[in-house]
Amino acid sequence: MKGIILSGGSGTRLYPLTKVTSKQLLPVYNKPMIMYPLEILLKAGIKEILIIVAPDHAGDYLKLLGSGKEFGARFAYEIQDRPEGLAMAFLIGEHFIENDNVCMILGDNIFEDDISETIKNFKKGGHIFAKKVPDPERFGQVKFDEQMNAVQIEEKPKEKISDFAITGLYVYDSRVVAAAKVAKPSARGELEITELHNWYLKKNELKVDVLQGEWIDAGTFEALFKATELARKKSQK
Ligand code: DAU
Repeated sequence: MKGIILSGGSGTRLYPLTKVTSKQLLPVYNKPMIMYPLEILLKAGIKEILIIVAPDHAGDYLKLLGSGKEFGARFAYEIQDRPEGLAMAFLIGEHFIENDNVCMILGDNIFEDDISETIKNFKKGGHIFAKKVPDPERFGQVKFDEQMNAVQIEEKPKEKISDFAITGLYVYDSRVVAAAKVAKPSARGELEITELHNWYLKKNELKVDVLQGEWIDAGTFEALFKATELARKKSQK
């Protein structure tokens, strides 16, 4: 299993904080934000990790994370010139992924649940994680039937289809690269990750687990504050 941390984008919602650094390098309690998703991949035993960053502040990532040796892993870096969509990560990472399974995590997502065993046990298909939230309009949404099978997935639909948001941790087999190659850009001009979920869903090969613990996409001031509170709570357990 290979790992990807997607840590690009411009973080405009966090201006002026992100005028001088990258969103995913901002402090969340006692360490930079990206360290939380990194720890999830490391805990799952992933040793080869590709870190995708925007051109600005790329050097700061290298300074913080280095070769990976310090973490018992090997890090590779790629620059994403423009934020053209989450699914682009699998095109940028094509040669890194080769024929392996891959776990991608967003550099601004903080999870309370321990998902490491699920990642370790992954064999084939796609496996994503949903969380019931009060503000599903901010996210990709997944609708379940009575047996909690995923039946519909949409990226920020105008009319909400569900209260379950799709979180930013995705486990796929190597076919995800082929799925990303046939994906078409959305109305907002991005290669959407939901296209890839749907590629697996249509084949009946997508598993969706519901998370019990807290999950935070730290992309707004309010969420960033909550992330700090969660990280503090976790560190004192
Ligand atoms: O956080 C979970 C949500 O993330 C999912 O529910 C959605 O399905 C998914 O599309 C995504 O939605 P967002 O609106 O949060 O995406 P955003 O554009 O904010 O990007 C998420 C992170 O990924 C952000 O930290 C920046 C980074 N990013 C984004 C894009 C579009 C990149 O590194 N490159 C990109 O091209």
